[in-house]
This record gives sequence, C-alpha cells and structure tokens, in this order.
Amino acid sequence: MIKYLFAFVALFSTLLAAREELNNLIDYDKATCLEKLENASDKQLWDVFLRGQANLFFESESSWLAKNLWWKQAKKILEIGSGNGAFLYKLSNDFQAKVFHGIEKLPEYVKKANAQYVTDDLTFQEGDAEIYDRRLAESADIVLFRMTLQHLEDSTEALRNAAAYLAPNGYVVIIDSFDKARKNSPPISAIDEAMQLASEVQKSRGKGNRRVLFELLQAINSGTTELSNIYEIEFSSVDIQGNVISETIRFEGLVNNLRYFNHTLLFLTLFQRTYHISVNLEKAYDELQVYISDENAWTRPGMHFLVLRKK
Ligand SMILES: C[S@@+](CC[C@H](N)C(=O)[O-])C[C@H]1O[C@@H](n2cnc3c(N)ncnc32)[C@H](O)[C@@H]1O
Repeated sequence: MIKYLFAFVALFSTLLAAREELNNLIDYDKATCLEKLENASDKQLWDVFLRGQANLFFESESSWLAKNLWWKQAKKILEIGSGNGAFLYKLSNDFQAKVFHGIEKLPEYVKKANAQYVTDDLTFQEGDAEIYDRRLAESADIVLFRMTLQHLEDSTEALRNAAAYLAPNGYVVIIDSFDKARKNSPPISAIDEAMQLASEVQKSRGKGNRRVLFELLQAINSGTTELSNIYEIEFSSVDIQGNVISETIRFEGLVNNLRYFNHTLLFLTLFQRTYHISVNLEKAYDELQVYISDENAWTRPGMHFLVLRKK
C-alpha cells in the first residue's frame, strides 16, 4: 500500500513540475525550451495554455464586459464549452453578485473544474453544445461562448440551443478567433504562416472554422441564416468588411509580453499537433525574443467579440 502511495506522490510531483516548466518557458535556452514543448503531452499543453490564455486576455475581457448594461443587469451566466473552468473561475471572482454555470463536452475537464473551482455560485456539468438539454431551458440571462464556437461541427445548432437556454430578453456573448484582426509590433511572421496553414487544413477537412464569427455576422446582417429570425446584432468589434472597429483586447508591458512569449509557443505547438502542419518553432522563438526585448512591443490578438440579442 505504502509503495503505491509513494508511486502516486512521485507521479503527481512529476506532473506538477512539468506544468511549472511549461508555464515558465522563458527560463530555458532555445534548445531546452523546444525540447520541453516537444516532450509535453497534449493534455499538459492544453491545460497550461488555457490557464495562461485566461490570465493574458482576462483583464481586457472582464473590463469590457463590465462596461455593458446587458452584463450589469444579468444575474445568471451560462458558459458553453467551459474547458478546464479557469476563465469562468476568474469571471466569478470579478463579478461576485452573479451565478455562473459551465457546460463542457470533455468529462476530464468537468471533473477538474469541479474539483478545483466549484462554489455555490460556480458549477460545471458535462454537456454538448450541439445537443439540446431541456434542464437548461430558460436558465440563463447570458450564454457565453469563449473560443468554443470555432471548434463546433454545427455552430447554428449550438446557437439555436443557446436561444432556448436564454430567458426572455437574454443575450449571447461570443468571443472567438478572427485571424485577420491580429497585429503585433514588432511582427511575428511565424504566427501568420502557421495560421495560414491551419486555415487551409480546416477548409480541406470541412471541420472547424476560425472565421466562424465573421461569417455569422455577415449571415445575420444579410438575413441569409435562420438565426436572423431568433437574434439581432447588439455589438460587433468587427464590421461586415472585416475591419476592426472596436479594440477589445490589447496588451503590452513586460509582464504581459512575457506571458505572450509563453502563450505563443504553447499555441503554436498545439496548432502543429491539432492541424498536423509544420510550424517553424525555432523562428517563432527567435522572433519572440526580439518581441520581448522591445519595451514598446504590443499585441492585439486576432479576436472578434459579437453580442446577439434574443428577439
Ligand atoms: C479552446 S477551449 C476554450 C475553453 C474555455 N471556454 C476558455 O476560454 O478557456 C474549447 C472548449 O470547447 C470544448 N468543446 C468542443 N466541442 C464542444 C461541444 N460540442 N460541446 C461542448 N464543449 C465543446 C472543448 O472540449 C474545449 O474545452
């Protein structure tokens, strides 16, 4: 028995050490850093990536939400595709008068989120965005999709379900990728090259879509989707030509730029594995070193914020 306990403690410590290393890639020289990325499991990469992304983007997202009347007035928030729960946990800390619930397809994420974050006002359950769950009917004032819509096979079905989960006069808030909106100074061309390759793979697979929000905006605007019978557009950070008209997330300063160094290397490694594309991680590392040594460096990540009001 004691032998098993020791083995378990040793395994747990190794996992924690690996997470710590992936969180602090800046501490290693190029060869060691790339080796650590290569040796990490997908699970480890996703876990550290989601937490890091929540930290990096969170301040901008939270303060943007806080400015809007529909957010101020909402009491019950439902996130669909809540991942490891890190983002919803941070939101629940910033907005303590609200109640948060996350649904997520992957059971291991739900388990993790429930083990780490659950409170009276923050809960998680297993569920699928594309399968209607009658227990959620009219349960939320706001349904949130953050970096999830792009991964779905049928985003129209997910948005149809979301409308049924909303109380009358509710809102859907979607935050997702729009690569065309991304800008760094100084530039990091390895990211652009990887995004181009990933989009081509998505197109050829016919699954997933990093332009999903922009296409939804255009379709609702022109009335070419049934969703225009259910929703109207309340806000979009991008116009129908694809120009950024409202800068919702921007980061700069040493702390954020160091986080961005880490985030980008994790992101590109996950991109490489998810889309089976060849990403030039060495070049990305070199460009990121130039980026973090420039004290005026800044990033506007390629994101689109879209708010729909239920009719
Ligand atoms: C990139 S993660 C984003 C997680 C979280 N929203 C965040 O911002 O940190 C996308 C999440 O959507 C989940 N997902 C994918 N398809 C789903 C579906 N059909 N129903 C529910 N969740 C889904 C994935 O398992 C993953 O956890």
